[in-house]
Amino acid sequence: MKGILLAGGSGTRLHPLTRAVSKQLLPVYNKPMVYYPLSVLMLAGIREVLVISNPDNIDLFRHLLGDGTRLGMQIDFAVQPSPDGIAEAFTIGSEHIGTDPVALILGDNIFHGPNFSPLLRRNVQEIDGCVLFGYAVSDPERYGVGVVDAEGTLLELEEKPARPRSNLAVTGLYLYDNDVVDIAKNLQPSARGELEITDVNRVYLERGNARLVNLGRGFAWLDTGTHDSLLLASQYVQVLEQRQGTRIACVEEIAYRMGFIDADDCYRLGVEIGASDYGAYLRDIAKGET
Ligand code: DAU
Repeated sequence: MKGILLAGGSGTRLHPLTRAVSKQLLPVYNKPMVYYPLSVLMLAGIREVLVISNPDNIDLFRHLLGDGTRLGMQIDFAVQPSPDGIAEAFTIGSEHIGTDPVALILGDNIFHGPNFSPLLRRNVQEIDGCVLFGYAVSDPERYGVGVVDAEGTLLELEEKPARPRSNLAVTGLYLYDNDVVDIAKNLQPSARGELEITDVNRVYLERGNARLVNLGRGFAWLDTGTHDSLLLASQYVQVLEQRQGTRIACVEEIAYRMGFIDADDCYRLGVEIGASDYGAYLRDIAKGET
């Protein structure tokens, strides 16, 4: 399966923080926001990722992530000239996807919870149609909202409904079979002129081929859309990391634990990163001390 990480948009809701730098490069505690969604693709076993951002920021992502070799991955980059919709990721990324299935993740979505990696890998292996991930929230009207049957088959889907029919928000992680490329190609822009991801998902729903996996209560799907929620996301990561002495979304550690790189590579990355406690953590991981 190929991966696409969509990290464009205008970020106006976080101005002035995002006047000069992309939202997805802002810090969430001790690492750039984009590490969190990248780590999700890695935990799903995906090693070929296309990062899409706007013309002003694409080189910053390239500078941060490089070509992926250091993580045992292949990372490519593409520009979305203007924010014309999340589903544009599949037309921009059609060559990268080729004939494979694809996982799309939004660059501002943070997921953390127990047994996430096996859950992802199971769904990636069994992909047929589309798999969405749902999360119960107190403010569903801000999101795509789904209604499912007892087996998790998606029955209804609405984008930011004034009167939500459930409290199950559709998160920014989407798995698709290869049909998504054609579906996106034939999509009409919505009233606000965007290629909407919800319209893609509705095509699968109408085919009876869309599932919504509920992430459940013990899971964290964090918001980064406002100054307050951004700070809370940092605090969440800080609390868990300090309490447990481990790191969330440390992409170098994940590359090592997933077998993308070996212990020597991991140690070398720890040395490269240098004197920060992040570098020391990687050196300890490589030596088997954490
Ligand atoms: O976060 C989950 C939600 O994401 C879903 O529940 C909704 O169904 C889905 O439409 C989307 O809603 P948002 O209101 O969060 O969409 P927004 O337009 O803010 O875009 C989400 C991210 O994707 C944001 O970081 C910017 C990026 N983006 C967005 C568009 C429209 C792009 O990179 N390019 C784009 O053209």
